[in-house]
Amino acid sequence: MTLLAPENLPDFFKRRHGRAPQLFRAPGRVNLIGEHTDYNDGFVLPAALDLATYVAIAPREDRVIKVHSANLNADFVADLDAPQRAAGDWSDYVLGVALELEKSGHRLRGAEMIVMSVLPMGSGLSASAALEASVGYALLSVAGAPIDRLELAKICQRAENEFVGMRCGVMDQFISCHGVEGCALLLDCRSLEARPVPIDPKVRILVCNTMVRHQLAGSEYNLRRQDCEAAVALLSQTIEGVRALRDVSVAEIESHAALLPETILKRARHVVTENARVLQVVAALEADDFETAGELMNASHASLRDDYNVSCPELDLMVTLARAAPGVFGARMTGGGFGGCAVSLVEASEAERFAEIVGPSYEEKTGLKPMIFSCYPGPGAGPVVF
Ligand code: GLA
Repeated sequence: MTLLAPENLPDFFKRRHGRAPQLFRAPGRVNLIGEHTDYNDGFVLPAALDLATYVAIAPREDRVIKVHSANLNADFVADLDAPQRAAGDWSDYVLGVALELEKSGHRLRGAEMIVMSVLPMGSGLSASAALEASVGYALLSVAGAPIDRLELAKICQRAENEFVGMRCGVMDQFISCHGVEGCALLLDCRSLEARPVPIDPKVRILVCNTMVRHQLAGSEYNLRRQDCEAAVALLSQTIEGVRALRDVSVAEIESHAALLPETILKRARHVVTENARVLQVVAALEADDFETAGELMNASHASLRDDYNVSCPELDLMVTLARAAPGVFGARMTGGGFGGCAVSLVEASEAERFAEIVGPSYEEKTGLKPMIFSCYPGPGAGPVVF
């Protein structure tokens, strides 16, 4: 099936429903560093992609939402006044957001919607957060409600935690709602304060999709969270004021290593050192010290692979190939892991050649044709006018 282009979505909607829709979008993201730190109250440094999910919407007079997915050519219908259960598919992200919006006091209108995404699903670029944020933005807009981006991000996260059953942190939903053009965002996941970190035009962010996603991703994610909670329970007995791994320093994790079982220690060590790396990368980027930023990205990958155990052979291969390409300062896996994408920091003048070098070697070794693209950070969720 040829994918509908976003600019054709309004016409497609008109043909199906006989009236013009309003159009909204919300982006996916690439995380430069700060992996598996968000649910530990830590720091992250994501950038919103210029790839997004789009929602065409027109209100109805009743409280029924009717949704068509242009990517999947699938439909679902739900009555907001009837009890709802998760179906275990894409509709959960849409309905979950609608139900959470209602729970937090918004009275929604029924609507016809068509959703379409140019984000590859299951590739670790947060297609699910983009779907949640675009739907949430669209539903609030047609209900005439003012939009508070932070509230929307939290509602989308709750929908995923409670309705979909994935205990994700807030990073993906936050950046999808708050993206800033040309910048990554340093987000403190405890205070939810964010600061834009401009990406210097001397460098490019290159994203390489391994084209694999191992089944483990969801179940292992929730297990990692449990390991972190176990570490906090043990460390808080001897270190005062520890509410989350965010409160533990690199020196403390080393001096308290004997308190923790081996696996729990590895998990905690990743989180604690990764938090420190995020702040160091921000300082390096702000000082135009791309060598240091790249080395820290490499260290992040090693920690995710060896201590957090969320990498996989395809991601390890992709970062090895990326690092061998000219002008690459550093490369690491990005997102939850077990497949999905790697991110590299590359000298702008070498960015064009990067895909030509990395793509064929990855394909030769795996038989998989990777999708490789340069990311120019874009804005967060909002209305679209073509
Ligand atoms: C997924 C989750 C995020 C975050 C990352 C890992 O993308 O949705 O909340 O935990 O994994 O950094």
